Amino acid sequence: MAATLSEGGCRRLLQLLLLSRRPGLPLRRAAAGLKLQHSRGTHSRSSTWDVHAFMPESAAFPQVRTYQELLEISVRDPDTFWGVLARERLRWVKPYQTVQDCDFSRGRVNWFLGGQLNVAVNCLDQHVHQSPDRVALIWERDEPGTEVKITYRELLETTCRLANTLKKYGVQKGDRVAIYMSVAPLAVAAMLACARIGAVHTVVFAGFSAISLVGRVNDAKCKAIITQNQGVRAGHIIELKRIVDEAVKSCPTVKHVFVAHRTDNKVHMGNLDIPLEKEMDKADPACDPEIMNSEDMLFMLYTSGSTGQPKGIVHTQAGYLLYASLTHKYVFDYKQGDIFCCVADIGWITGHSYVVYGPLCNGATTVLFESTPLYPNPGRYWEMVQRLKINQFYGAPTAIRLLLKYEDSWVKKYDRSTLRTLGSVGEPINHEAWEWFYKVVGENRCTLVDTWWQTETGGICISPRPSEEGAEIIPAMAMRPFFGIKPVILTEEGRLIQGEVSGALCIAQPWPGMARTIYGDHQRFIDTYFKTFPGYYFTGDGAHRSQEGYYQITGRMDDVINISGHRLGTAEIEDALAEHPDVPETAVIGFPHEIKGEAAFAFIVLKEDTAHTEPVIQEQLKSIVASKIAKYAVPDHVLVVKRLPKTRSGKIMRRLLRKVITDESGDLGDTTTLDDPTVVTEILEAFQKYKQDKSAM
Ligand code: WT7
Repeated sequence: MAATLSEGGCRRLLQLLLLSRRPGLPLRRAAAGLKLQHSRGTHSRSSTWDVHAFMPESAAFPQVRTYQELLEISVRDPDTFWGVLARERLRWVKPYQTVQDCDFSRGRVNWFLGGQLNVAVNCLDQHVHQSPDRVALIWERDEPGTEVKITYRELLETTCRLANTLKKYGVQKGDRVAIYMSVAPLAVAAMLACARIGAVHTVVFAGFSAISLVGRVNDAKCKAIITQNQGVRAGHIIELKRIVDEAVKSCPTVKHVFVAHRTDNKVHMGNLDIPLEKEMDKADPACDPEIMNSEDMLFMLYTSGSTGQPKGIVHTQAGYLLYASLTHKYVFDYKQGDIFCCVADIGWITGHSYVVYGPLCNGATTVLFESTPLYPNPGRYWEMVQRLKINQFYGAPTAIRLLLKYEDSWVKKYDRSTLRTLGSVGEPINHEAWEWFYKVVGENRCTLVDTWWQTETGGICISPRPSEEGAEIIPAMAMRPFFGIKPVILTEEGRLIQGEVSGALCIAQPWPGMARTIYGDHQRFIDTYFKTFPGYYFTGDGAHRSQEGYYQITGRMDDVINISGHRLGTAEIEDALAEHPDVPETAVIGFPHEIKGEAAFAFIVLKEDTAHTEPVIQEQLKSIVASKIAKYAVPDHVLVVKRLPKTRSGKIMRRLLRKVITDESGDLGDTTTLDDPTVVTEILEAFQKYKQDKSAM
């Protein structure tokens, strides 16, 4: 510990010296200069840099001397690269025989076939054997200063007790279990307990409505739900159990509801309900892990697509775990003893990979953040950084945009000298937010990584780090592919294009962390990801590649929008709006929003004989969306129009609606396919009037 500190001290001193010698440097260069300091006691670029110290497993590739060569081998010879890493980094019950068997044209993705292991053993038992008293979780509860620390030994015992409780009530290998909880140690134990007994968890973000929960639980045919009596967030109580009570009425497959207690308040306990802690007290503190095949399901997570209902993205055991842990270590420069903090909710993939599986597989101390960035004040994150001595902080641009509106003193009054790496995820980070995060929070000395990935990719795919020694970081850009990732850019017609270009971002070869299927609908998996550009995994995002070969994500190419880093299909919101009996037609599009990144803008057509006034209907529509999906999905704007712009074949031209509300109506592009061109003028007028009425827009 002392050695790490003094190393850190030297590093900071060196940074100061270097930066002070180059006062006029633009940020880009300053960042590049800064990166030199992360070398392990070296003075020049790659000449003395030791690739085998950087990645000990690379000793298996003695010919590899530089970072670039390591990256190259990971892409050129993935079987060797991933084969070695899987063997060295995971604890196997039985070694795998085949590194991969993949065929994008059939949507077939298999890694480490023949191998057997247990993910919970990798995340818990192996560390308990080595250092049982190391802190695994720091539960940063809603009320600041009330954090709870849980060691690896304690987490293993809790997980085993929970696993035995699930078993006692009939949950078996292969069964699906929904977890509807806020961020808490018992939620992590619930995920790991499923992994231990071979059950498949599907965590449903505790902000989703009862109807959303029903949709997911029924699609997954869950046998049980694990929930809490109540949640606590920003000083408010969330009635989680009550939402589950409402949901289970429509969930015929659910046999039991396990209820953990986050508060002392009593909630109604019905026929299905089992008090979780009470049962765990009676349970055996040890539980033999189930032996799982590499490609057995580990979890699924529902995410939105451009059409229809959210799809259950399936991740499996070995490949996912290897990819989550490797990216956690190398993107964030995680070192043993570090306190790692990703403030995402466990209901999203970020929480799965970088709150739970990645850090725990690496034996890290991971922070579980239960609160919000503004509670009890805008200094919350940084006061926590000081109190818990956090080394890596991973958050979302939307929170950064929110916080930079407040005085910098909310940041500066807290000691952030422990921070080394800052990360951003979930949506594009704008320059202002990046600079503030880098300069004010990171004191111009931390590495800031803009990380691009998706629920489907399992872990980070494009990020400025890792990289070769001293490599520059360009603000607000994800830049570089991770090991084994081969990004390519294609034209809309499907032509692969080289050099500095913009187009559809695809990935040309499989990697262990990628999704395996959509639960119950493999054809949809093939159609969504492998059909548009045969031979490639299509991300749904557009990207620009610079002359230097760096990638910049330009945003979704489909009808998916991103509200505060949460992904939503516009079709989902439209389906919810269509529930209103007086609203025959709707079109929802994304609209730029200063804090949320994007917000939903709904155009609606009303029945002529409606008995309600427009404001009443607008409010009714908002509450329908909140109850059918979630509060965050509620459109910020609901504009009543007489007609929607349609092609002669009846397709709504959302492109035109987007132009109208982003003030680009002067350049409408090709409107020849429009059924009746006067409709655009009509909508434009309605929008102008709406803007005047809502002068805030
Ligand atoms: C979509 C995936 C990955 C965890 C959280 C979101 C957008 C994600 C970035 C970034 C620009 C980003 C993409 C992607 N996205 N990270 N760094 N820069 N856009 O996971 O809910 O599956 O959403 O989020 O559009 O496709 P998700």
